[in-house]
This record gives sequence, structure tokens and C-alpha cells, in this order.
Amino acid sequence: MALIEVDHLTKNYGHGRGIFSVSFQIEQGEVFGFVGPNGAGKTTKIRHLMGFSNPQSGKAIINGMPCFQRASTILQDIGYLPGEVALPDGLTGWQFIRMIQGLRNYHDDKRLQYLLDKFRFDPADKTKNMSLGNKRKLAIVTAFLADPKILILDEPTSGLDPVMQETFIDFLRDEKSRGKIILLSSHIFSEVDATCDRIAIIREGKIVSTVATKDIRHNSRKTYQIVFNTVEALSFFSKENGININSEDKKLKTLEVSIEDNNINLMINALAKYKVVSFKEKKFTLENYFMHFYEKKTIEEASK
Ligand SMILES: Nc1ncnc2c1ncn2[C@@H]1O[C@H](COP(=O)(O)OP(=O)(O)OP(=O)(O)O)[C@@H](O)[C@H]1O
Ligand SMILES: [Mg+2]
Repeated sequence: MALIEVDHLTKNYGHGRGIFSVSFQIEQGEVFGFVGPNGAGKTTKIRHLMGFSNPQSGKAIINGMPCFQRASTILQDIGYLPGEVALPDGLTGWQFIRMIQGLRNYHDDKRLQYLLDKFRFDPADKTKNMSLGNKRKLAIVTAFLADPKILILDEPTSGLDPVMQETFIDFLRDEKSRGKIILLSSHIFSEVDATCDRIAIIREGKIVSTVATKDIRHNSRKTYQIVFNTVEALSFFSKENGININSEDKKLKTLEVSIEDNNINLMINALAKYKVVSFKEKKFTLENYFMHFYEKKTIEEASK
């Protein structure tokens, strides 16, 4: 059985807001990502998995237990990083860390030191005097100091500087290799690309597509942009056999063609007969893929 199981989970806040019949599963050792526009329902799903919110219908299950009813048991295995960090005001970072160690009943200072070193964080200041990034670092250190099995992360790198964002990605990769199960939501495509095995695209409270990142990266059909020196050359080439034209722009003397990797020689042989000004692959990135879903297209259009 999957470690995390969400089955037709629904929470309707009215006026089209909320999450609607959402289903997905996450296996041991897998990194699963949510991406989607503001208000799409990412945090709402995460809050149901954390047991903060009771579903109207459907299920959110971790380790075979319903999240809302068994929250206190389930939370012992979870490291949670909320989208907005709220820390008690009167404490120093150290006092807060010691408090969490006590609550978690986990006093491994080696793990703590590893996290402090990794994120280059000195917890001496009072929390109310910390910068946003340092508050975030304190939340990171306290979320992971008990070495939890499951990491649930809502926009984990927001507020971190670019070096720390890289460090965090590095940290997630290490945790994955240690067999952790990780769920994260993010607006940063490079972050999900670098960490996730599978990504669910969320729109208007529903999962509109789930993709395996390796399938997107290793697509055997590629798109090329070819610029000819004359419009005539472009027209003749477009009538060659076996060439699949996506679009043409006669003014710019440019063609866009898509071709399977094993037919690339066919295209190069055909092209050799014409004078070509430039020839380049149009890289298919996760960002291109996701942006369809962010734009105001219908879900059917976006899925094409
Ligand atoms: N407790 C609540 N009561 C009423 N509406 C809510 C509540 N919580 C969330 N919503 C609404 O549900 C929708 C989904 O919100 P959610 O916070 O899950 O979005 P999100 O995908 O996390 O967005 P963002 O990228 O901005 O963090 C929004 O329209 C939000 O206003
Ligand atoms: Mg959110």
C-alpha cells in the first residue's frame, strides 16, 4: 500500500473555491510535487494531510491511518514546513530548538549540528529579531531535527536566498536517497524539476495532469526551428516527404518541425539540399509545459 493515499478528497469552500475529488498516491522513497497558480488548492491538500482540516468527503490517509482522526500519531513521522512560518515571539532560536527537541523527545545533537551547518544558521537571536530567511531556516532546522520519515513542504524555499535554495535542493536529494517520502508544493519550476519524480498540476481545486519528470525530460520527439535564406527554399523543403511542419513564418523564413529522434537523419538529408541560415532545437522544458496550465486556457486546451 502507498504510504500516502488521497482518494476523492473534497473540501468545498463555496464559490468554486476549495479542492474537488482529488486522488493521488505517493510511494516510499518518492518525491511528489504540486504546482499550480495561486489559489489552486495546494495548501488546502497539504493541510488535510497534516490533519488540520477534516475532509467533507473522500480520504486522506498516511501509513494506513486517516489524517484528521489520527493526526497526533501521524504527525510524529512528519517533518512539516508551512508556507507561512509562525514562531513564538519571546524565545531565542536556541530556546525554540530545545523546546522542539523536548516535544519530539529527540535529542540527537549530531543531527541538529548537521542541519545548522548545512543551512549556515546561528540560532542565537530572538525569533522576533530574525530576518525572514533566518526565520525560515529556523523552521527548516526544527522541522527536520527529529529525522522524520515523511517531509511535507509547502513552498519550502520561499524567502531563502539563491544559494540557500540550492542548498535546500541538495538537502532534499540527500533525504530522498535516505528513503524519505517527500511531498512539496512550489512555484519554482527549476526546484520541482531538480527534485520531483512526479508532479501533479493543480488548477481550480483539481489535479489536471500528473507527469513523471523523466518522461518530460526524455521525450524522443523533438522540435527544431529552421531559418532558410529564401522563402522559396522554405516552401520546397516543407513539401519534402516525412517532414512534419508545426508552423511556418514566411516573413522570417522560419519553419518549426517536430521529428522523432530516430528520423533525424531523414530531416538532415533533406535539409542538405537547401541553404540554411540557422538550425536549432527548441528545448522542451518543464517551464514550457507548466506555463500552459498557468495561462487562462481551458483545461482541455492546456492538456494538448
Ligand atoms: N479556510 C478557508 N475558508 C475559505 N476558503 C478557503 C480556506 N482555505 C482556503 N480557501 C480558498 O481555497 C482556495 C485554495 O487555497 P489554497 O491556499 O489551497 O491555494 P494554493 O494553491 O496553496 O495557493 P498559493 O499558491 O497562493 O499558496 C482559495 O481560493 C482560497 O481562498
Ligand atoms: Mg499555498
